[in-house]
This record gives sequence, C-alpha cells and structure tokens, in this order.
Amino acid sequence: MKVKRIGILTGGGDCPGLNAVIRGVTKPAHEMGMTVFGIEDGFEGLVEGKMHELTNREVSGIINLGGTILGSSNKGDPFHWPIDKGDEVVIEDHSKLALKNYKGWGLDCLIAIGGDGTMHISEKLSKLGMNIVGVPKTIDNDLEGTDLTFGYDSAVFVATEAIDRLHTTASSHHRVMVIEVMGRYAGWIALGAGIAGGADVILIPEIPFKWDDTYRKVIDRSTRGKRFSIICVAEGAKPFGGKIVVKSRDKKRTDPIQLGGIGNLVGSKIQKNTGLETRITVLGHLQRGGSPTPFDRILATRFGTYAIEIAAKKKFGYMVALKGNEIKAVRIRNVIKKQRLVPPDCQMIRSAVKVGISFGNDGFTAWR
Ligand code: F6P
Repeated sequence: MKVKRIGILTGGGDCPGLNAVIRGVTKPAHEMGMTVFGIEDGFEGLVEGKMHELTNREVSGIINLGGTILGSSNKGDPFHWPIDKGDEVVIEDHSKLALKNYKGWGLDCLIAIGGDGTMHISEKLSKLGMNIVGVPKTIDNDLEGTDLTFGYDSAVFVATEAIDRLHTTASSHHRVMVIEVMGRYAGWIALGAGIAGGADVILIPEIPFKWDDTYRKVIDRSTRGKRFSIICVAEGAKPFGGKIVVKSRDKKRTDPIQLGGIGNLVGSKIQKNTGLETRITVLGHLQRGGSPTPFDRILATRFGTYAIEIAAKKKFGYMVALKGNEIKAVRIRNVIKKQRLVPPDCQMIRSAVKVGISFGNDGFTAWR
C-alpha cells in the first residue's frame, strides 16, 4: 500500500508554531501526490467526524500565525469522552467512533501534533490499528524523547519581555515583583525566562522552595544590594513539604487539573513576612498566544516536513524529535513513559546559581 491519504490534527492547548507544522506537512505531501485532511478541534473532530481537505491555498501564508487553523481541544480524548448529563459528567470510551471515522475517510496515516496527552492517546490509537506519526508541541517543553518542543521558545520570549517590563516598576518603586508563568509540572518556562530576564529568584516544581530562604534572598537584596527583587514562579512550584496549588478541576479535560495561584501565595507571604511592598503578575495565556519566534517557525517546519517524510516511508508509531541539531524519530511508546522535568543539577541551574539567582532552597543548590 502506498501512503496517499493523510489526516492531521492538533490536540491539547494551542501553541505558537502549530500552523507552521501544518504547512510543513501539507506542502510536501501535495508535492508527493498525497491528499491531506485537516481534522478539526483535535481528537474531538476524529470522534465527531469533523474534517475537510486542506488545499495549498489554506496552508499558504500561515507560518507566522499563532494558534491553529484546525482548532484544538483538551476535552476530546476518545478514550475519556465526557458526556454532560446536566447534574453529572459521565466518561465513556468513544475510541471505536474514532476508528470508524479513520477507516471511513480511508486514511493511511494520522499525524497528531500535540503534547504528552496527545502522545498517550496516539499510542492507544496505534494499538487499535491506526498508523500514527506524532509531532511534539507544547510551551511547557516537558515531552520526553526530544531536546525541545516547538512553542517553548515563543513562550520564553514573551515571559522574558514581561520580566523586562516588570523590572522598571520594581526598580523605580523598590518593590518585590512576583511573576507566575505556566509550565504545568515542569519548570522550563520559569527557568528560561528567569535566566533571560535576570530574575533574582526562580521557583520551579523540581526544587521545592523554603519560605525562609526565599525571604532571606529578597531581604538581603533590599538591605545590601539593589532595593528590589524579581521572583519568577512556575505555576507548578511548591514549598518544601507543601502541595502544588490547584486552581480548578474539570473532569472533562484529558488532564483534569488546572494549576494556578502559587504566585499570589508567594507574593502575599513575602509582603507579610518581609515587610517589603510586593506586586503579583500572572502572565497566563499571553505567553501561549501570538506569533511563533523564528526559532519555533524553523523547528516546526523541520518537524512537519520530517513527519510527512517518515509517514511516506510507513514509519508509524513514531514521534519526530530534536536530538542535538538533528531531527530524528523516536517511538511514541517510549516518549510517554515519563515527563521531561528540569534536572535539578543541570547546566542551566548551575549557570543560574553562579550568576546569583536563588531557587529558594539554599541547601538544594549548595553544590555550587
Ligand atoms: O500545556 C500548556 C499549558 O499552557 C500549561 O502551561 C497550562 O498549565 C495549561 O496549558 C493551561 O491550560 P488551559 O489553557 O486549558 O487553561
């Protein structure tokens, strides 16, 4: 069988670079004589039968566009399909419907662009008999098997600019400015933006922080150094012996937990316990929206074109990945074994500590 009919979908939260991948898949696919079907709203469209053929015109001029022209959803897991019954949400398995549509549309391969949720679903769909190629996206950069995901660089760019802007008020008013950034259970965004923005304290999930060490750092700065501090907090950061701060739970989502609130907790405790005037900014979806950076456009294009290349070779059950400066294929089943978290003794942490950044836990980073 020759690979002729390709389905493509974007799953989970949107992220800068998705359109660059769609373009990177579709243009070469057309050159190879294939037909590409855009499945709408992620796996939801696969279950509900929402798709249309992608033309060259539709994918032209979209490399710089944020979001996804196909739509996305983090509530469309075919194996965890939420049915709203008014007073309760019942979860059903609708994977057979997804398979029926895949077969009905005569697809030879499905290219699934997404994060760990999408890769978990993809592996299960592979077991049902679908031919899947995965493409790793997420601003969180927490996917195993690839050195980087596209979207991360764009998120770090926005978060860094936000920290730059907070610096002016921080220094003019001699305040502590706390900024909460996304990242789920990984601290990559906080670490990247914190280093690039010259934060004084970075709090990440991988290094549980101690309140006293955090207070000491900002008091030291205010009495001996500069009279302000910038604290960059990952939404998944937690105090030593404490719990992650959950904003809400939604059974319909692939991951029911929505994080958020640690920035407010850190800010209010710092003000109360140090007496320093403190302000809190929650960056939210600003860091996920807008145009991808040039780096993400290039990475997404390389991922997309490689994905269609391996699909044509029938290398199914694989995810494209960045390894060093090469694009390679890694097995999806290996990628989903664990999340890629920040190794606490990695080079980035070491460099941050050497330039005086505190992780709010002096014992943890004492090796410096
Ligand atoms: O995974 C990307 C991400 O932006 C996380 O950093 C964040 O925790 C989550 O999605 C927010 O999800 P939502 O847009 O559904 O609120």
